[in-house]
Amino acid sequence: MIGVLIGIPVFVLLTAGVVIVVLLRKPSRRYSGPGSVSGVYDTWTTDQKMKFYWGNHLHAGFYGQPPERKDFIRAKLDMIDEMVRWGIAQPDPRLIERLENPVANASRIKILDVGSGMGGTALHLAQRWPKSAHITGITISSAQTTHATRLAHASGLCNVTFVECDAMDPAFAAQSFDIIWTLESEVHMPDKERFMREIVRVLKPGGWLLMGTWNVRDTRSVPLNTSEMEHVQYLLDEWCHTKFDEIHESVQLLERHGLQKVVSEDWTAATLPSWRDAILVALRDGRGLVWTADIWWRNTRDAYTILRFDSAFRKGLCQYGLFRGQKP
Ligand SMILES: C[S@@+](CC[C@H](N)C(=O)[O-])C[C@H]1O[C@@H](n2cnc3c(N)ncnc32)[C@H](O)[C@@H]1O
Repeated sequence: MIGVLIGIPVFVLLTAGVVIVVLLRKPSRRYSGPGSVSGVYDTWTTDQKMKFYWGNHLHAGFYGQPPERKDFIRAKLDMIDEMVRWGIAQPDPRLIERLENPVANASRIKILDVGSGMGGTALHLAQRWPKSAHITGITISSAQTTHATRLAHASGLCNVTFVECDAMDPAFAAQSFDIIWTLESEVHMPDKERFMREIVRVLKPGGWLLMGTWNVRDTRSVPLNTSEMEHVQYLLDEWCHTKFDEIHESVQLLERHGLQKVVSEDWTAATLPSWRDAILVALRDGRGLVWTADIWWRNTRDAYTILRFDSAFRKGLCQYGLFRGQKP
């Protein structure tokens, strides 16, 4: 009798565990056109953890080389500043001088943030350069556009605007921007040639493209094995991604579209702590548990996906690629 009383709950728990694992391992947000991407981001925009714990930044943090412990939002702001250092200040001292020390009546440097998320990056750049830059953020998600526009109004900044727009067909005249900034957005683009052609089209001659993205490891000498292929496919299909290029392929993409002085770097080690921090930051704080409880299944799925990303970067299956290039 006691055996039956213990056996039934154990059986129920084990069955529930197996069902949950099976459901988690089946990707649920596969890319199926622009509406699938905007749908995912519209939904995420209501998520408290992304606003409060991630500070409206849907991108990795920079923890240094070698990485050091730091506050999650601080790491995200450091990521943007590090990209400015590597992607603008290092290759173009005159451009950073115009941004940091503007002379009176000089025209503003125009920056396009492609895939601007909830607006955190564009707002940080606008705060950093209130007199010298104007930042336009574009996203395919209407909820993100509304959210980021509200943040911009609340901040009182008048040098940042957000527009709902598909990067496959950006509604800007040729040669409109001095800097194109795109961080963790390229992985959603259905046609990378067209994406690159369009963003290079709207870049002014002499302007810089700065891209941070997720790459898959170099497979030229050792192709992906079955388990790696399954892992990558999961990462693509769970968060509406289309394809992860290899770092050398991304370099070739920029070069094919006429960019010069193309340089890449692997920032995997410096960004790796972001994955675990993305979960821990909400769990360490009691409010996080309350907030996450209402949408527990979606959060469980996201936490599982984050851990699989963490594992892919940790074991070298994925790499965090940074790229810069100048339009001649
Ligand atoms: C992971 S988020 C990156 C967030 C952002 N770069 C940041 O700094 O927080 C990916 C972004 O790419 C945008 N996106 C994806 N496909 C797009 C497209 N075809 N056109 C414009 N934006 C797109 C999404 O709407 C989302 O804002």
